Amino acid sequence: MPLTVPAPIETPRLVVRQIAEPDLPGLMAVNGDDTVTQFLPYATWRSMDDATAWYRRIAGIQATGNAVQFAIVSRDEASVIGACLLFNFNEGSARAELGYVLGRAHWGRGLAREAAGALVGAAFGPMGLRRLEAEVNPLNRPSVRLLQSLGFTREGLLRQRWVGKGAAYDVELHGLLRDEWQQPGT
Ligand SMILES: CC(C)(COP(=O)(O)OP(=O)(O)OC[C@H]1O[C@@H](n2cnc3c(N)ncnc32)[C@H](O)[C@@H]1OP(=O)(O)O)[C@@H](O)C(=O)NCCC(=O)NCCS
Repeated sequence: MPLTVPAPIETPRLVVRQIAEPDLPGLMAVNGDDTVTQFLPYATWRSMDDATAWYRRIAGIQATGNAVQFAIVSRDEASVIGACLLFNFNEGSARAELGYVLGRAHWGRGLAREAAGALVGAAFGPMGLRRLEAEVNPLNRPSVRLLQSLGFTREGLLRQRWVGKGAAYDVELHGLLRDEWQQPGT
């Protein structure tokens, strides 16, 4: 069974919904920034061709049923300000990995917490998952802080796990169980 695609999720400031090709120009402003992509496993987008290539790759992975990519849409501006995803879905263990990115202009306002929190709620609710994982470079302090604020536990350090952008780097593995998840406001 593929990973279920939930209905669009509304939060006070955002809508989190499955991505579509018309979202690419908005995502260009997000991923066309070296500061944003510093810790991401892909190069900064330099043109719409890069955006389209990324979208085709994502569409191929989604077609396997092992991932769902979401756009983060600002309700005020009706514009795409970021993206988040569940990937590496393992059906037997009802487990997946969480990822997220927000345009730099939108950092520091709790919007990533709001979007990722909504996605975690859907993952443990209608999508039926029981464990979420995230790998994060320990130098990526805003991402580590976000995982902590979502209630993830740091479960270990995977030394020189990846080679990217010319260097090997460590990642921390963080995990969150459905039974530990507390909806915001509860
Ligand atoms: C990781 C990333 C999404 C975090 O974004 P962010 O805006 O820092 O995250 P949050 O939404 O949790 O915002 C938290 C910050 O907003 C502040 N804030 C302001 N208003 C807030 C509100 N209403 N609610 C919550 N936090 C608020 C908090 O104090 C906090 O600041 P602090 O971290 O300095 O203490 C962002 O840095 C990013 O896109 N990075 C590039 C992509 C990336 O590396 N992804 C992860 C790969 S593992």
